[in-house]
Amino acid sequence: MEARQIVPEPSSADVNKQPQFGTRFLTDPCQVFQHNNWDNVEWTDEQEAAAEKTVLKNSRPLPAEKQEEYDSRANEYWNDFYAVHENRFFKDRRWLFTEFPELAPAQRCLNHEVHPEVSNDNHQNQRKSKEITSLSPNAADFPGSSATYRILEVGCGVGNTAFPILRINDNDPQLFVYCCDFSSTAVELVKSNSEYDPGRCHAFVHDLSDVEADYCPIPDGSLDVVVLIFVLSALRPAKMQASINRLARLLKPGGVLVFRDYGRYDMAQLRFKKGRCLSENFYVRGDGTRVYFFTQDELHDMFTDAGLEKVQNLVDRRLQVNRGKRLTMYRVWIQCKYRKAQH
Ligand SMILES: C[S@@+](CC[C@H](N)C(=O)[O-])C[C@H]1O[C@@H](n2cnc3c(N)ncnc32)[C@H](O)[C@@H]1O
Repeated sequence: MEARQIVPEPSSADVNKQPQFGTRFLTDPCQVFQHNNWDNVEWTDEQEAAAEKTVLKNSRPLPAEKQEEYDSRANEYWNDFYAVHENRFFKDRRWLFTEFPELAPAQRCLNHEVHPEVSNDNHQNQRKSKEITSLSPNAADFPGSSATYRILEVGCGVGNTAFPILRINDNDPQLFVYCCDFSSTAVELVKSNSEYDPGRCHAFVHDLSDVEADYCPIPDGSLDVVVLIFVLSALRPAKMQASINRLARLLKPGGVLVFRDYGRYDMAQLRFKKGRCLSENFYVRGDGTRVYFFTQDELHDMFTDAGLEKVQNLVDRRLQVNRGKRLTMYRVWIQCKYRKAQH
């Protein structure tokens, strides 16, 4: 695998012309409390070693029965989460279209910016894309069947990604958004949102880890983009590979899976108390929801084992600062794009 540090790609300036992952770099440590955020923070070897030690100290897993319970009741814990928080969580989406211009294809065309990452021309060929899907004429009547560019967000929560996608593409009648979550409470919140328009989107309950179930009504080979934002980390690691394999089948040839999630040694991982570890790098929060912390390598292996090709696999390291309390918090997120081959 190649070097893992962020290599700012020319792509990132696409839609909003913002540089990838920001440009506020901490060059003088004495200035750390002068801003709330620092971008692209380098970790020292000592810092990495200390983080590894912290994780090791808290790596004794809970008993198997407990693990089972958290797994079998996973959607109930998320239902409880949304019953309490409704749509007040996970709101920050400023980075969405900067990092994933595939989510605003018409915008990209208007800007006359053709990015090598989407060089398969999926969005440029929107009008022709009926020909390149594998849909049979008989299978044609389902929500989104007449669209020429289809996006699915899995683990959509209350629509903090899906609605911005609909908003930014409101001049593109050919684009259709599917979104699903295994929390029926979350899906109900999506459907009751005043922005929910069944002519442009379709929300449904689906468990990403249930690889036998169909993503009804979405036929295999029909999607341009699959979006996974902070959802794969909620799955038991043993179920991840099969879930990604299943998603890969939904993509058209040339379709892309975009991904952002927690990275290894993110502040949230280092803060878990004893008794919260389920298995290596996998934890349960106080409210019963679970979270895994990925490395770039394991994600690369998972996506390529599913038959996808790497477009991007980056680590986004930030330093968040609580200036009042003079606290520093090191965040680590991983961002990937993997494409299904054209043939
Ligand atoms: C951290 S939240 C992120 C929500 C949303 N992607 C966002 O960024 O706003 C994780 C979401 O994944 C959903 N989720 C967790 N496990 C899932 C599974 N096995 N199948 C489908 N959705 C799942 C949860 O219900 C929750 O809505």
